[in-house]
Amino acid sequence: METVVSGIRPTGNLHLGNYFGMVKNSVEMQRNFHCYFFVADYHSLTTHPHPADLHNTVRHVVSEYLACGIDPEKSVLYIQSDIPETTELYTFLNMLAYVGELERSTSFKEKVRSQPDNVNAGLLTYPVLMAADILIHKAIKVPVGKDQTQHLEFTRNFAQRFNNLYGVDYFPLPQAFNFSTELVKVPGLDGAGKMGKSEGEGNAIFLTDKPEVIRKKVMRAVTDSGPTEPNQQKPEPIQNLFTLMNLVSAPETVQHFDEAYNNCTIRYGDMKKQLAEDMITFTHPIREKVITYYHDTEFLHKVLSMGEEKARASAAKTVKEVREIIGIRKF
Ligand code: TRP
Repeated sequence: METVVSGIRPTGNLHLGNYFGMVKNSVEMQRNFHCYFFVADYHSLTTHPHPADLHNTVRHVVSEYLACGIDPEKSVLYIQSDIPETTELYTFLNMLAYVGELERSTSFKEKVRSQPDNVNAGLLTYPVLMAADILIHKAIKVPVGKDQTQHLEFTRNFAQRFNNLYGVDYFPLPQAFNFSTELVKVPGLDGAGKMGKSEGEGNAIFLTDKPEVIRKKVMRAVTDSGPTEPNQQKPEPIQNLFTLMNLVSAPETVQHFDEAYNNCTIRYGDMKKQLAEDMITFTHPIREKVITYYHDTEFLHKVLSMGEEKARASAAKTVKEVREIIGIRKF
């Protein structure tokens, strides 16, 4: 069976963008692949979270993974920092990563712009740590959103460089994976761009948002003054609402509003009301489960111990073989 790895940084609660961008995909992959899913707590340290917050967010993300349907009996669910072997592989891969290429990474350049006071080396080598996460299990498929394709290109480059340098065919070259042909880009509610928690209050719908919060956010979504001629092309804010509706509503509902748009009778207020209710129907059962798991420390402990044990066995095997290839050998 092919191996899959994916991670989520514990930086906050998951929103619909995370869900449709990758978590849903991960859940579907459990049936056909050998899956490793983890919480990327090392990665989140680049922004220096408060220790209590970090611990809490990790708990939250694990609860969300479980609530969305990651089955700890089928998949290996673990915390990145429980697998210290990852940092050893990270050290090895750092010797193969060029500072120049890391500096050219779009997400690094983005961080330099957005947090100029904290351009730490961990930020620069973020793609190397991510490559270590993936290569430690020799995964070939990685269910991630569109924004991660460049990171996967880095992973393939490091893997290929390792293979070339040591004249081995050891690491496979992993690919981004999605069941649908296109990687999904989930838009936000502010009229432009993708859903993200850093794009401003109200732009993202979180899986654990209360119904009244969802209603409020959706009703405030950016629209325009409405179509003026039949079958007009939809401007971005409107198209975004339709894209979101496509994700959570029944096809007939989408069709209804699409027709209303095309014959210029649409009332955005009605569409938003419907969208909010369908989002609530969708997120509500997940929200309930998140709350249950979050408070069940005993269960979380059991699941994560099991994950740690399985993930470490796989990681230890890789690091042992990599050491041997590199020439780190016992006397
Ligand atoms: N960089 C990913 C993100 O921000 C998180 C991540 C870390 C990851 N390591 C990974 C994803 C390995 C997939 C595989 O979303």
